[in-house]
Amino acid sequence: MRSHFFVVSVLAVGLVALLGESVSPAFYWLYVPLIPLIVMGCQNAFQTKRAILRNYPILGMLRYFFEEIRPEIQQYFVENDTDGAPFSRDLRSVVYQRAKKQLDTVPFGTQRDLYAAGAEWAQHSLRSVHVDPASLRVTIGNHQCLKPYSASIFNISAMSYGSLSAQAIQSLNGGAKIGGFYHNTGEGGVSPHHLEPGGDLVWQIGTGYFGCRNSDGTFSPEKFKARAEHPHIKMIEIKLSQGAKPSHGGILPAAKVTKEIVEIRGVVMGKDVISPPTHSRFSDAEGLIRFVQELRTLSGGKPIGFKLCIGNPAEFVSICRAMKRLDIYPDFITVDGAEGGTGAAPLEFTNSLGMPWAEGLTLVRVTLELMGLKKHIKIITSGKIVTGFSLFKALALGADTVNSARGMMLALGCIQARRCNTNHCPAGVATNNPRLTVGLVVEDKRVRVANFHGQTLKAFAELMGACGVSTSGITRGHVFRRMESGQVLNLAEIYPTTEPRAARFLEAPSAF
Ligand SMILES: Cc1cc2nc3c(=O)[nH]c(=O)nc-3n(C[C@H](O)[C@H](O)[C@H](O)COP(=O)(O)O)c2cc1C
Repeated sequence: MRSHFFVVSVLAVGLVALLGESVSPAFYWLYVPLIPLIVMGCQNAFQTKRAILRNYPILGMLRYFFEEIRPEIQQYFVENDTDGAPFSRDLRSVVYQRAKKQLDTVPFGTQRDLYAAGAEWAQHSLRSVHVDPASLRVTIGNHQCLKPYSASIFNISAMSYGSLSAQAIQSLNGGAKIGGFYHNTGEGGVSPHHLEPGGDLVWQIGTGYFGCRNSDGTFSPEKFKARAEHPHIKMIEIKLSQGAKPSHGGILPAAKVTKEIVEIRGVVMGKDVISPPTHSRFSDAEGLIRFVQELRTLSGGKPIGFKLCIGNPAEFVSICRAMKRLDIYPDFITVDGAEGGTGAAPLEFTNSLGMPWAEGLTLVRVTLELMGLKKHIKIITSGKIVTGFSLFKALALGADTVNSARGMMLALGCIQARRCNTNHCPAGVATNNPRLTVGLVVEDKRVRVANFHGQTLKAFAELMGACGVSTSGITRGHVFRRMESGQVLNLAEIYPTTEPRAARFLEAPSAF
């Protein structure tokens, strides 16, 4: 049967070649593909792993080819402007336009159905005001911090060198330098590519303690102190979890591990780098808060915070209670949503774990307020924030400032090919293959990153102006959503502060 299809396929190609030759002798070259095709067909027919290829040694290859390029086919031939996930085509387009400082207006009216469930809008005012984008900064650092940092309200979220290419990291940091915003290193540690351009850094410390680890993988206070002194490092973030794979350590697939990464991280070549799911330095809420203080002291008083995606609200409440008991307050908390991105994650973790962004952010904000802690702690958040409106919504739900990961990747030229876990990213962003990274020119892309930042802030400032508010005046009442029933509610009604999920746990025994 197998050989039957193989012979038929080769005959079919031969027939095409014969027909071509009969039209003109110049079509002789049509025989050339027969040679590699026959070789590949033989390999396919006698391999044992893929049934389709054993049964259809030549035609079967088409199936794998189309499967490989399916995201591109979908993007170029199937998608409407409002289709595409995780980012619809119109959202991707606006990032590209703002990154290139091209025309970013839309003609003829909205393509969104404003009467469909989920449609959202902000409440404008007849008393519009002017908001200066340059004023959109927030100081992070409470009374226990010696070196507060003035942060832009729009920044680059954590993505490690290794997960992204050296060129991508250099471009992101270069963009941060031009635009005056910060660049979070991701849990892979600080590399020369982060430091060379000179942009502000937030050093993220994950469970692998890359850059501050002993040979047995535990945290090294001495190495941390030496690195944290670097003047480009403005803040330090302890990573507890991220939305795309909460309670799973970082994953760097073996295909992306280069010699340089082996040296920077102190890991082994040719193996997936998988960090543990939890920290070895602490095992409960008080341990975490003491670690915050330890890092604050070792870093000479730089702002210290932690990042998490909310799972069990009782655990977050326990952390807040530990802050009060110990009288130690982190300078910031970064709240990531379950819809967050990642270089690589197990499907179950990405699809079915973690609190979605709006609920998680609301829970953190409300808990901090209920417990009288908000005055000490700034809230940073991330979750598909790529436009002025999504920034507006984040602030309405209680964030002080936001991070963007995939928005910044799009600004670098990412085409949402979704191959970050394979080392085959065609845009040279999420790969360490030199044949692909050569396409990403740092001099050009760092300007695009800075443009995307600047133009998005400009759009956000205009939107705030139209609503007649400044950042501190944005409330949940400013954003409306049409519900499944057709009813229109504002975010204060959808995410109420009066009956927060957290309140149930305020008096409960410690959960962490
Ligand atoms: C390629 C890639 C690598 C990431 N690496 C990290 C990481 O090292 N540490 C971390 O806390 N989050 C990491 N994230 C998550 C982002 O920092 C961010 O929290 C999440 O993607 C949500 O933001 P977004 O919707 O703007 O992408 C990564 C995301 C992507 C897409």
